[in-house]
Amino acid sequence: MQLGRRDFLRSWAALPVLIGKSARAESSEPLRVRASRHNRIYGAAVCTEQLLSDVEYRKVIGREAGILVAEGETKRNVLQPQRNVFNFSRTDAILKFAQDNDQLMRGHTLVWHRANPKWLNEEIVVTRDEKLLTGYIEAIVGRYRGQLNSWDVVNEAIEPDDGLVSGLRQQSIWFRALGESYIETAFHCARAADPDASLYYNEANLEGDVAWSERRRRATLKLLERLISKNVPIDALGIQGHLKAYRVKYSDEVFSRFLDDVASLGLRILITEFDVADAGGPEDRVQRDADVASLTHRYLDVAFSKPSVIGCLTWGITDKYSWLSRDEHYRWPDGQSSRGLPFDQEFKRKPMWDAMVSAYDKTPI
Ligand code: G3I
Repeated sequence: MQLGRRDFLRSWAALPVLIGKSARAESSEPLRVRASRHNRIYGAAVCTEQLLSDVEYRKVIGREAGILVAEGETKRNVLQPQRNVFNFSRTDAILKFAQDNDQLMRGHTLVWHRANPKWLNEEIVVTRDEKLLTGYIEAIVGRYRGQLNSWDVVNEAIEPDDGLVSGLRQQSIWFRALGESYIETAFHCARAADPDASLYYNEANLEGDVAWSERRRRATLKLLERLISKNVPIDALGIQGHLKAYRVKYSDEVFSRFLDDVASLGLRILITEFDVADAGGPEDRVQRDADVASLTHRYLDVAFSKPSVIGCLTWGITDKYSWLSRDEHYRWPDGQSSRGLPFDQEFKRKPMWDAMVSAYDKTPI
């Protein structure tokens, strides 16, 4: 489904008709219908392996999500494992699923300091060859031209703790090889490869009511202002939205002010990787689920109150497969599952799902 930047939001108005007619009238309609009814989107990160092997997972993703993103399959270590070898099969499988289920698909991510193949990490710092950046973007965005409606062109280029005045991530193969200009080069290249795709800068840890998160917000805004002042073709900011319910303070006012600052630059905003880590929380699952739902409600209420925020994707959809349970920083020491996504391990809707529905339902049309 080819969607120009201009049609991105208008397309969602059609979805309830599309889904309303075909979807069984459920006692509680799926997230994608609720979202599109309020001119917003809901989607989820998916994995090919699970889509192909888990029937229940496939059913929930097909029913609830209006847009998909690959959790790992569209990263360079998967797409270009060797210098002259591209592997599109896993991405193509997700794209086919999306097309079969009237879903859009977005790409994550073309340029990142992580998830790069070994050969690239070694070669780029020696040759500093810009074609290693532009050639890849041309190949990938060109192949999916008109099929992926948006791309995270550059991901996590900010790291104030690296000590640069700009707040940019100095410990990145791209910065070390090409300097800050890699960012604008990437966006110009992506625009040329698919003029109709929406181009995102995607960033992490922008929500905390803590000093180090404020430094990230300031550095992100400075970067966006610089890019826009140079007429770099950037359409939107992706705010990852990996919240930590018990470890990082959150403030509605701080988050709201940041969203307003981004919107004042003329950018759209998408919550691109939403989940709520419950590590460090109470042993009582019912209490944790309630706390996660409450934070979800607060966060999305603020986000969806802004016309510039077009929606939210969760980073996965079920606790059964969440990265939070695999990650050394967020997994539970006793091995119990993190509960940071809208569906539990048995694919049952959780209070977080209810909170998301409520936030979408309250969204001004
Ligand atoms: O597929 C291989 C498997 O064959 C192998 O046996 C296994 C053992 O190491 O690794 C598997 O690959 C792992 C891949 O996830 C698939 O599970 C990689 O090692 C692992 O590094 C990779 O982690 C992903 C990470 O990004 C790095 O790409 C996480 O699943 C994914 O949730 C995470 O997502 C990031 C976003 O891209 C950016 N924002 C933060 C977010 C969370 O870290």
